[in-house]
Amino acid sequence: MCGIVGYTGRDQAAPILLDGLSRLEYRGYDSAGLAVRDGSAPAEVVKALGKLYHLADKTDQGRALPGTCGIGHTRWATHGDPSMVNAHPHVSGNCSGSGSGPVESDVVGVHNGIIENFTELKEKLLRHGYTFYSDTDTEVAVKLVDYYYKKYKIGPVDAITRTMVRVRGSYALALMFRDYPDEIFVARKDSPLVIGTSEGASFLASDVPAILKFTRQVYYIGNLQVGRIRPGEVLFYDLNGDEVQLPLTEITWDTAAAEKDGYEHFMLKEIHEQPRAVRDTLNSLIRDGAVDLSATGLTDDILRGIRQIDIAACGSAWHVSVAAQYVIEDLAGVPVRVELASEYRYRRIPSSPDTLVIVISQSGETADSLAALRVAKERGALTLAVVNVIGSTIAREADHTLYTLAGPEIAVATTKAYSAQLIAMDALAVRLALVRGAITEEKSGELIAALQAIPDQISRVLEEKQRLQWFSSKIANTHDIFFIGRGLDYAISLEGSLKMKEISYIHSEAYAAGELKHGTISLIEQNTLVIGVLTQSSLFEKTLSNMLECKSRGAYLMGLTTNGNFSVEDSVNFTVYVPKTDEHFIASLAIVPLQLLGYYTSVNRGLDVDKPRNLAKSVTVE
Ligand code: M6R
Repeated sequence: MCGIVGYTGRDQAAPILLDGLSRLEYRGYDSAGLAVRDGSAPAEVVKALGKLYHLADKTDQGRALPGTCGIGHTRWATHGDPSMVNAHPHVSGNCSGSGSGPVESDVVGVHNGIIENFTELKEKLLRHGYTFYSDTDTEVAVKLVDYYYKKYKIGPVDAITRTMVRVRGSYALALMFRDYPDEIFVARKDSPLVIGTSEGASFLASDVPAILKFTRQVYYIGNLQVGRIRPGEVLFYDLNGDEVQLPLTEITWDTAAAEKDGYEHFMLKEIHEQPRAVRDTLNSLIRDGAVDLSATGLTDDILRGIRQIDIAACGSAWHVSVAAQYVIEDLAGVPVRVELASEYRYRRIPSSPDTLVIVISQSGETADSLAALRVAKERGALTLAVVNVIGSTIAREADHTLYTLAGPEIAVATTKAYSAQLIAMDALAVRLALVRGAITEEKSGELIAALQAIPDQISRVLEEKQRLQWFSSKIANTHDIFFIGRGLDYAISLEGSLKMKEISYIHSEAYAAGELKHGTISLIEQNTLVIGVLTQSSLFEKTLSNMLECKSRGAYLMGLTTNGNFSVEDSVNFTVYVPKTDEHFIASLAIVPLQLLGYYTSVNRGLDVDKPRNLAKSVTVE
């Protein structure tokens, strides 16, 4: 949940590191820091609290920190509060309160992940005379490397592998050793790390966009592997210290996809990219008028043999799973169980090879989702990853992978990746239904035509954004919002509510409309905003009744429904219409006004839309 970068080459490292960190700030922004060394001189460390621009100001955009080899970090606090002393880089020796200045230590490092047994390791190191200046697990890891390095008088690679054997948890570690100028050593377990090379220079980062400006040639270092990074040359080792060969991969997508492109915020840009993201994802799954999953390796025979589908995911990806549950069960008649990945991993759900476990994840690195995938594989299930980030850990470890083609998503609040996941799951449902004989070829063709119309329909919904902007200015000071719906409308409500609360900080909850009367309705007061999602014909009247029950207790109502299908204007205070489509696929359209509502409410409240407090884009801790 932090971002790490590194550079060694001929150019000045600090500006390159700051540039890389600016593309990783979505991973955390509690503090940031750099360690840079100039030839054989000791590394110089500079840290700053808060967002990256403080560090950039402090180092005169990196110019005040000379040297051609360095590492950097942007932090999302896990162990220890966001403070200067807890900010990375951490060192193997002692450190002043601010932690900035030349480092008289043998090892300096940055870390993304969590060392779970850091207390036990800290006690061991205390017994061996080490002292600690911070509350972080990272300082413990750096000092443990230093301990093995000195005790056994072994080189950095062996000191790191010994540390890896002792450490439990997850890490992407980048370390510089005083005795090895111009070199950076890395280690990885369950946290993302990519290493790039070019002529005379090498780079490392938690995510590809951080180095894409400098190179397209990357290595994805494996779990429990170590890397030795020199200018223009990288060597990899396994846990025994034996050298391993990794394939060099060429990144084919563009950096422009990770720029704001004239929009005020990444979130607004990404909301507007949804027609493209949905179209690209769909096009990759449709051939000659039929859904074609051959790129995933899921054959029709495999699909026919599935008896049970379990879907595990977190946050918005879990909301996609809830929507997919309704669609798959209704179209294909396969039982679907949806689980939060953080719960799934600790449950003893029986699985067999005819259970398909689907893990949905934008980043492909979410720790709970990755753990759920591994647990599913251990239990003998067949696994499918629906992932956006190419080459991510979940994508690589699943038996089958379906890539969504949303492109890089920067705003913490997901929009286009959510929409790409939805359409991918809809396409999967159509194929499942066809091969299992639940629908005819003709019906499959109709459903695919409906899916193909969705990108243009999303564009039409986006044209209505000014109404949402106006309405959000009316509700910007609301304290509580309830999103309600039944069936698929409940799944849409879950995501609408998350979009609102995560960036506007307004308390909001989603309820299956029929559940309100079992307790929650007591929270409805004069002017409490209740947003009802009413897109499903068979459930429309029931949800409307639930909304009216709220109105009679003082609620202010917004209704979200489909054009020309249902009339709610007489019953509610504000109505939003989206175009009609097959009702199974309506989430792709109905979510867009709710994304816009969350976005504009956050803007109206003067908040940091793209980087909401306490959050990070990629949650690589448990
Ligand atoms: O990368 P993932 O899709 O696995 O992330 C899962 C959640 O952390 C994510 O969907 C989160 O809820 C969104 N950023 C919310 O907008």
